[in-house]
Amino acid sequence: MMRAALALIGFAVATATAAATTPAAAAPACNVERGARAFETKCAMCHTAERGQGHMLGPNLSRVLGRRIGGAEGFRYSPALSNSAAAWDEKTLDLFLKSPAEAMPGTAMPFTGIKNADERAAAVCYLKGK
Ligand code: HEC
Repeated sequence: MMRAALALIGFAVATATAAATTPAAAAPACNVERGARAFETKCAMCHTAERGQGHMLGPNLSRVLGRRIGGAEGFRYSPALSNSAAAWDEKTLDLFLKSPAEAMPGTAMPFTGIKNADERAAAVCYLKGK
């Protein structure tokens, strides 16, 4: 029991040290589970992120990162999104999810935003894998 606890502490120290020496240490770890939960409770009533499924009230979000803003085939976007020439990246998606109406004035996405930065990062991270 004691030995297991010590081993665990040793592991934690080793990982913390490794994390501190990697350049990516400043970025929060990708919490896919938290992202999935956030998606389930805050997005899934309007979006699916599963490949090959149709659009709902909002467009299918599979492979949304790197995709042109307002660019999902067959979805009718508001001009706020369809007139954009940029592609979604982590930064723009984070800003959009923080406050859709502020990031994309005129968007038809009826969602006030995710105020918690960690939860937002987790949601973006979850979508990255979709
Ligand atoms: C009540 C419905 C609703 C909810 C809830 C909602 N969305 Fe949306 N979403 C939409 C609609 C509608 C659009 C299209 C907006 C437009 O055309 O301006 C959209 C657009 C988007 C886009 C742009 C996609 C593209 O192809 O450019 C992203 C990304 C997105 N939503 C992510 C999310 C995420 C992540 C959540 C949860 C945190 C969420 N949405 C919650 C309805 C919703």
